[in-house]
Amino acid sequence: MDNSVRNYVTELNTGILVLDESLKIMYLNSSAQSMLDISLKSSRKKELKELFYEEPDSYENFKSCLSEKSNFTKVDALLFVKGGKRLLCDYHIQHFSYDPVEEGLIIEIINKEYSHEIRERLRSQTNQEVTSAFIKGLAHEIKNPLSGIRGAAQLLSQKFSDLGLNEYTEIIINQTDRLTSLVDNILGPNRKPSFEARNVHEALENVISLVHQDLREKDIVLVKDYDPSIPDIFIDSYLLEQSILNLVNNAKEALEDSNILSPKIEVGTRILHQEFLGEIQHKTVCKISVIDNGPGIPSEIRESIFFPMISTKVTGSGLGLSVTQGIISQHHGTVSCKSEPGKTEFSILIPVENGVPEEKKLGKIHA
Ligand SMILES: Nc1ncnc2c1ncn2[C@@H]1O[C@H](COP(=O)(O)OP(=O)(O)OP(=O)(O)O)[C@@H](O)[C@H]1O
Ligand SMILES: [Mg+2]
Repeated sequence: MDNSVRNYVTELNTGILVLDESLKIMYLNSSAQSMLDISLKSSRKKELKELFYEEPDSYENFKSCLSEKSNFTKVDALLFVKGGKRLLCDYHIQHFSYDPVEEGLIIEIINKEYSHEIRERLRSQTNQEVTSAFIKGLAHEIKNPLSGIRGAAQLLSQKFSDLGLNEYTEIIINQTDRLTSLVDNILGPNRKPSFEARNVHEALENVISLVHQDLREKDIVLVKDYDPSIPDIFIDSYLLEQSILNLVNNAKEALEDSNILSPKIEVGTRILHQEFLGEIQHKTVCKISVIDNGPGIPSEIRESIFFPMISTKVTGSGLGLSVTQGIISQHHGTVSCKSEPGKTEFSILIPVENGVPEEKKLGKIHA
């Protein structure tokens, strides 16, 4: 394929797969790579049936399009993609031959879940942003009177020292300190992020070094599944580490409290193409995922886990995920979760904007 044509095909929102005469992959564009969760490199020379399976099995359709030199269209197909993902789509199989002997198939896949998913993601993100802004506003308003109460209690303690009443002023001071620290946690990290072009794997490795020993002691296996081709992206490493650490700690705590036989946490990275973050479609997005094989998120809190102070743990403050979400939105990214018993996956998506700090691009459409 001519390179400039290939560039256009690569960027299409429709997934395009090109198969040779033995139904092996010759090429797939970025959208097909995202939909089928596979990179171009690792798909090469793989057979189509190694990428997805359809119920009822449709492999014969592909073979007969080849043998009969015919085309085929399927509406509302449900594909089971390798790795457990399901993909609701329409697809079209087109036979082609480019010289007397060479032939193959072009498959066009139109993802139908995408538009629904984008709308859902946007709705839930807006809800969370409104609630978080309200709670943070309230927390901020509570902070000022608290410092007033503390100051007055300190003055009183000086006056009461002779009367033996300091015990009471101490209680006021300690309790206001407790409230202040709670409010500070709700407000999240008390500084603006400072973005630098960094490799996300450095941040992941720093997080892993913090939890490694603890995981080993608890017999939790840690699996790394990095995509080494991810370029440097503009991040605040310290804050990003904080946000990933919250996810890894949650995974660890979920596994500790369960009786899973082989507890495992998988930390992975991937590049996604043409992905929507909010209303903006980004050409390239970096995905960081933390997956555990624990019991899953209890259904009664599944919709509200990103709100502050939602927790099922005796000693949990319920702030970890809300802080993570705050940090990731400072990176103009999103954090989402899919959970079922045996597999809970948190995904952080951050745009890769090739060398220009995100804050300079705010408000622009990233074509
Ligand atoms: N990987 C997971 N598996 C199962 N449940 C989870 C997982 N991650 C989060 N949760 C649920 O979401 C709740 C909220 O998590 P969050 O990190 O915000 O607070 P927390 O862990 O309870 O407290 P904190 O992080 O402040 O110590 C948890 O209490 C837990 O019920
Ligand atoms: Mg937590």
